[in-house]
Amino acid sequence: MEHKLTVCCGTSCYLAAGNRTDKLEELITKEFGDKVEVVPSGCIGQCMKNEASPPFVKFDGEIISDATNENIIKELKKRLT
Ligand code: FES
Repeated sequence: MEHKLTVCCGTSCYLAAGNRTDKLEELITKEFGDKVEVVPSGCIGQCMKNEASPPFVKFDGEIISDATNENIIKELKKRLT
């Protein structure tokens, strides 16, 4: 795997997005093959900050906010294609 996507499954993100990991893994594999590893995680600390909205993910160390599955695919496409 060349890239790592850390998916926050903490309370704020869960409340904002529900359980998105299984579906997300499916979408990522479909779009990017095995280039991106999806790693579920506890709170990644972003919900404590006020300037962005949950749910959050981290892609190769960079935080992405408002990270619905649809937005994640859109953002990854910008970075990987
Ligand atoms: S619960 Fe997702 S960043 Fe805190």
